Amino acid sequence: MTEAAPIEHPSWLTGGDFTEAGEPFRLFAAWFAEAKRAEPVNPDAMALATVDADGLPNVRMVLLKGFDERGFVFYTNLGSVKAHELDGAPKAALTFYWKALQRQVRMRGSVEAVSAEEADAYFASRSRMAQIGAWASKQSTVLESRMAFEKAVARFTAKFTIGAVPRPPFWSGYRVAPTEIEFWQERLYRLHDRITFRRSDPATSWTKTRLYP
Ligand SMILES: Cc1cc2nc3c(=O)[nH]c(=O)nc-3n(C[C@H](O)[C@H](O)[C@H](O)COP(=O)(O)O)c2cc1C
Repeated sequence: MTEAAPIEHPSWLTGGDFTEAGEPFRLFAAWFAEAKRAEPVNPDAMALATVDADGLPNVRMVLLKGFDERGFVFYTNLGSVKAHELDGAPKAALTFYWKALQRQVRMRGSVEAVSAEEADAYFASRSRMAQIGAWASKQSTVLESRMAFEKAVARFTAKFTIGAVPRPPFWSGYRVAPTEIEFWQERLYRLHDRITFRRSDPATSWTKTRLYP
């Protein structure tokens, strides 16, 4: 049997000059794979910025649960502040910071709800306790005591003793479809690299620009 030839990776996939990359999703995939190896905790954590009805920005961390050329997906409670803000203004910005790699990725664009089938499939992959937690949390509303929350967890644990836990109707995901993605790599003496990819809408191709750091 002959040995398979080694795969030739472009240098930006192997940590070389990422500024050669011609297309941001593959570059993101390469950086994310490296972040999963380098960051001990939550390499999938990203800051999600939205705006409220007065145009006041709001930002919080969420976890990236999937991405492809359509965009970047996270899940949440549909009664939460972020969900209300996205209903009013379906646009968002996301930022990743991977300290161990000294890299930042920023992006922004329009937001759409994921399909019920996609949300069901992801919900089914969560641990049973996380599924019960989703039922028990009225996220971002006032909770009178920790005990009240624990009682709600116990109530839903008893309710769903047998069989699969269905996805709550008030829990689903959103996909951010970026029209801008910027990659930032720290370099010596603050002479960092910054490469921005832009497109006018998700159906058009990307333009790449290098920016002063
Ligand atoms: C590392 C990290 C990951 C988080 N991931 C999520 C998430 O995936 N979905 C979510 O709804 N909240 C997540 N949270 C909690 C949110 O930051 C936030 O507190 C919560 O969603 C309420 O936000 P809102 O009131 O703006 O809707 C996470 C928090 C941290 C610190």
